[in-house]
Amino acid sequence: MKIIATRGTKDSLPSEVQAWQLIEEKARTLFKIFGYNEIRTPIFEQQALFERSLGRSTDIVQKQLISLQSAGKDVKEEKKLALRPEGTAPIVRAYIEHNIDKKEKYVKYGYVGPMFRGERPQKGRLRQFHHIGVEVIGSNNSYVDVEVIALAYNLLMSFGINGFQIKINNLGCAKDKLKLSTILKKLLKVRKDELCELCKDRFERNVFRILDCKNKDCIAIVKELKIEEQHICDDCSNYFRSVLDGLRQLSIPFEVSPLLVRGLDYYTRTVFEITHDALGSQDALGAGGRYDNLVKELGGPEKPAVGFALGLERILLVLGDQQDAEAYLDVYVVTLGEEAFKKGFSLLQVLRSNGIASDLDYENASLKKQMSRASKAKAPFVILLGEDEVKKDVCTLKDMASGAQEEVSAQEIIKRIQEKL
Ligand code: HAM
Repeated sequence: MKIIATRGTKDSLPSEVQAWQLIEEKARTLFKIFGYNEIRTPIFEQQALFERSLGRSTDIVQKQLISLQSAGKDVKEEKKLALRPEGTAPIVRAYIEHNIDKKEKYVKYGYVGPMFRGERPQKGRLRQFHHIGVEVIGSNNSYVDVEVIALAYNLLMSFGINGFQIKINNLGCAKDKLKLSTILKKLLKVRKDELCELCKDRFERNVFRILDCKNKDCIAIVKELKIEEQHICDDCSNYFRSVLDGLRQLSIPFEVSPLLVRGLDYYTRTVFEITHDALGSQDALGAGGRYDNLVKELGGPEKPAVGFALGLERILLVLGDQQDAEAYLDVYVVTLGEEAFKKGFSLLQVLRSNGIASDLDYENASLKKQMSRASKAKAPFVILLGEDEVKKDVCTLKDMASGAQEEVSAQEIIKRIQEKL
């Protein structure tokens, strides 16, 4: 039987890898411009890390963790392991493990990497997907929230994405969240039977999630609850106001969305989600927020934090075929006949050793076919070697943009190309 890729995973063939690399490159450039240093953590961790940070009652922990059956035949590992479903908890784990708080008042980390969730695959929802994210640990300045949202905004703009919406809300501190949960339980208790099956379950284990249920009946019920800021304390209310002021100061468009709650337990105060209409039902391009208690809850010092993650596959979905393939060769060497091929093959090594990205055809293709390969690679220059050139010991250098051709001696060719590139 043919073995095919597992459902919810995806191969990236070279044509798509180019688009990926471009995105990653832009992300790393912006991380640098904003003063974020890249961090890399392992792809699997102890399952307990996610149970304790994301929340035992969340969908990710209840249904989506991909646990590892064995740590490897030779490794005696009693602890249960799981592939990471997100990057925040592992980064906080690393922050605590390396005593970073003793070295720096606060840190700004950026990351790009694969995440794993055992979800039912559909458009924009995979079991292996990739995050571009940041985490700032150790500061509770509201301007850091603004910077983080500004970075997400700038990343998306730099990828060439327009028409996305930033929705933002204030969850308040742990006490405020408890207050809201009590209010919700009280208000919804009498209407529990009218909720969808999922929300009946949510009522017991994660009442906040009822607020952003997509079911029509649940939406109507939630609307009548008139949840606004009644549960938020003065400190959290002022904090949120200054985040919004900061966003206005930077002219970042946003929409306050009082019903925005997130699927992870660790959030406090600012939460945000970035959506795009082109995505369909899985419309979040990215999301993030503050998690002021997580470092402490995982056994570290009391350090407030904030971050976000963008879904790379969803970015590519929105971009569609919009992205122009980049040139991946500087020069294509076109040869006609055996002698010319041998000469071209030697020239290729010289070009490459001079750092000029170059290639030729090994399969005796026609002139037309070789020229079309050169165009496909978007090579700005072609070196033509035919019988004539071999006899005269020259190369014909063709500028693909202007179509201009010139004869250049074999000794001069590298210099000539370097001048033009
Ligand atoms: P999240 O909302 O679970 O947040 O994921 C962030 C983004 O990852 C989503 O908005 C979506 O674009 C993408 N995503 C999530 N699940 C999938 C999937 N199954 N397939 C494809 N893309 C997906 C977090 O993970 C938080 N750690 C974000 C954060 C960082 N908060 C603070 N710091």
